Amino acid sequence: MKILITGGAGFIGYHLAKHLVSNTENSLVLIDNLQRGKMDEDLKILLANSRVQFIQADLTDPEFYKDMPIDFDHVYHLAAVNGTKLFYQMPQEVLRINTLSLIYILEWIRCLEKKPKLCFTSSNEAYAGALEAFNQLPLPTPEAVPLVISDMYNPRWSYAGTKLIGEQFVIFYARAYNFSAVIVRPHNFYGPRAGYDHVLPEWSQKIMNQTEPFIIFSPDETRTFCYITDAVEAMQLLMDSSTTHAHPIETVHIGNTDEITMFDLANKMFVAVGWTPKKLEFESSPQGSVKRRLPDISKIKNLVGWQPKTKLEDGLKKTFEWYTKHPKHQ
Ligand SMILES: NC(=O)c1ccc[n+]([C@@H]2O[C@H](COP(=O)([O-])OP(=O)(O)OC[C@H]3O[C@@H](n4cnc5c(N)ncnc54)[C@H](O)[C@@H]3O)[C@@H](O)[C@H]2O)c1
Repeated sequence: MKILITGGAGFIGYHLAKHLVSNTENSLVLIDNLQRGKMDEDLKILLANSRVQFIQADLTDPEFYKDMPIDFDHVYHLAAVNGTKLFYQMPQEVLRINTLSLIYILEWIRCLEKKPKLCFTSSNEAYAGALEAFNQLPLPTPEAVPLVISDMYNPRWSYAGTKLIGEQFVIFYARAYNFSAVIVRPHNFYGPRAGYDHVLPEWSQKIMNQTEPFIIFSPDETRTFCYITDAVEAMQLLMDSSTTHAHPIETVHIGNTDEITMFDLANKMFVAVGWTPKKLEFESSPQGSVKRRLPDISKIKNLVGWQPKTKLEDGLKKTFEWYTKHPKHQ
């Protein structure tokens, strides 16, 4: 199969590519502007495989699409500005880049004679505002809940806005121009090579430096964590599945259902890596942080029989091991 992954140098893109290339019938093209993804050793090893091609390009540049390779069976559109700090720092760029790159990808597909199946990575952020706005959200949360931007003036929700409108673009382009699409909503994927801005990479760094006091933000907020190899397998299974519909469009939650507070997560991590700080301090999260998230994953179970396999302890250990070998600023 010929597969395109945009954002292929990023966290999910890299692991997805590694997973897909293990099938010797697949050949891959990865596109990334390296705004966040890095041309590091891991990616270079992946690119040493002759079935993986890398193109460095900015997907918000309309000129690029004139030379874009065609003839793909599957397109995973992952490229986006991601990372909570960036939502606060440059919400206008988050909106521009995420929306423009998706529109250009959809327009490019629209003009292709042979239309590939599209996977679009939305986010749980797209519905998270419902809890803040109405103080109610079914937990576990199924796919068919309203998507809500609870505060248009809070930059936090810029990213969620791009996912909300992004889902609609995908649904109505796929319907109008007859191609299949899967909209996935990742729920906190974690693992090696996830950059340095998420909570687990930050904690890994602090544990390596034996930082005291060890600060935990929002200790009573809960999250679920899905290990990256499980997550990319879920995406692949959804893309490879076929139904009787000519051009199915599905929105699917991918995540783990084992809920854990940030406090318990920190303690689990200390046990997994064999170091516990003497002093813990607690702080609250910035405005817009969401207290609780728990995906309902019964839809993906029914569709493709997937459920997460990796135990949190094992995933935390593997993640920490990678970060000890790849500390920040190397
Ligand atoms: N990691 C998660 O748990 C999670 C959760 C919810 C949603 N998502 C979504 O999944 C997708 C992948 O997430 P990730 O964690 O791998 O993020 P990431 O930041 O590691 O990867 C995104 C990649 O897109 C690239 N990119 C950004 N703008 C680009 C542009 N204009 N042209 C070309 N490439 C560009 C970046 O350089 C980066 O390598 C994103 O759409 C993200 O919103 C991820």
